[in-house]
Amino acid sequence: MSPQYNQEFMSAELVCFSERCRAQYPITEPIYNCPRCGSLLEARYTGERTPAHLLKTLWRGRRTSNAPLDQSGVWRYREMIPFLDNYDSVVTLREGNTPLLPALKAAQYGGLDFLAFKHQGFNPTGSFKDNGMTCGASQAVRLGMKRVACVSTGNTSASMAAYSSAGGLQPIIFIPHGNISYGKLAQALEYGAKTFQVEANFDQILALVRTLADKLGIYLLNSVNPFRIEGQKTIIIEMMDQRDWNPPDWIVLPGGNLGNTSAFGKALRELCQWGLIEKTPRLAVIQAAGSAPFYDLMQAADRSSLHAVDHPETLATAIKIGDPVSWPKALHEVVASGGAVEKVTEQEIADAKAIVGLCGIGCEPASAATLAGIRKLTAAGVIARDADVVAVLTGNVLKDPDYIYRYHTGQLEAPGGVRIEPAFGNRPVVVPNDADKIAALLEG
Ligand code: F0G
Repeated sequence: MSPQYNQEFMSAELVCFSERCRAQYPITEPIYNCPRCGSLLEARYTGERTPAHLLKTLWRGRRTSNAPLDQSGVWRYREMIPFLDNYDSVVTLREGNTPLLPALKAAQYGGLDFLAFKHQGFNPTGSFKDNGMTCGASQAVRLGMKRVACVSTGNTSASMAAYSSAGGLQPIIFIPHGNISYGKLAQALEYGAKTFQVEANFDQILALVRTLADKLGIYLLNSVNPFRIEGQKTIIIEMMDQRDWNPPDWIVLPGGNLGNTSAFGKALRELCQWGLIEKTPRLAVIQAAGSAPFYDLMQAADRSSLHAVDHPETLATAIKIGDPVSWPKALHEVVASGGAVEKVTEQEIADAKAIVGLCGIGCEPASAATLAGIRKLTAAGVIARDADVVAVLTGNVLKDPDYIYRYHTGQLEAPGGVRIEPAFGNRPVVVPNDADKIAALLEG
């Protein structure tokens, strides 16, 4: 057995997120909600923490190491995700290690002096899900699970398929039929997932999968799984490391099921508690207007319950979710950070996405909601022009090439049939095999 790495200074348990309950369970219990009250669960660690300055040096040093755990941009920060007893069950594809890219054109478009993108599309399966999935899959292996399942708008299933197959688990995925991009579906098939295309929307399928998982003893790897959240914390930890532990003023991200918002908030709280940062950035969550229950919740006088959107609509299929399970955590984190929630139209997402492309960076539609949201929040004076802002691009540009082609050729239609006007369209030109004619076109 490989050496223990956290036992000597931290112990881990699952704790109910509800302030009124706070029931505690062993970290090895295969549960996703509190058996006593039904609320969400989160991992909690107690014991002596390694001092911040030692951690910073340790983590920096690991960047030059060839050990798989050190090369992973998740497990490099393992002192902050100490839920395993040893390294034996870790499934890693060297996830994380995603760049922080300054983008001047996008900053100008967003009404900012400066903007950097933390691009999670550089992950092994092309989305931020890999940061969480390495932890979820590792916990599944540790628990001795054989089969794992998820419902997905595409990226979770692609990631889960890859990590499960890499870890010797059987992946079973459930997706809304006809509502995910082919790039993502193709990944799940290629990585060997048993794939069910269900004729229902994401929220309906999640209920179905939870029943099946319970009945058949299959481990659930949706973002309700607290270990996924632990892994996604490292997006923020790595970003702070890349910024030499200088927190930005704002972190902007798209919101769907709200797992990532929960993870970012938990990361910020813990980084402060551990003394790794001194100031907490504000979180801005951006939703697609046709699928914005969290935006509605933030506007409401009474925030005690979320009103689900029964028929969510958006071409940004990754965030086409009407009943986000992690809303109680996300609400807590956004409010605690003094943050904001905004919603953006299909046209705004499409044009913002083209601008991200023109920076030479590119992303999938859901990710571009961040820049569209920044533009609105700066115009409204919520984010100041000179604020230091990091936007998280959640998925790779190649996840949804169909959307891109349609946009640039003027064929993209929003739900309801409204045509998107490609303000930054770039139509390919068909030409004869004739150098003179092509030269004339280029010079003309
Ligand atoms: N961006 C992308 C590219 C996503 O795939 C998702 C979620 C989100 C943003 C929203 O993140 O749910 O944590 O608020 N995709 C999930 C999936 C739901 O099944 O792949 P969230």
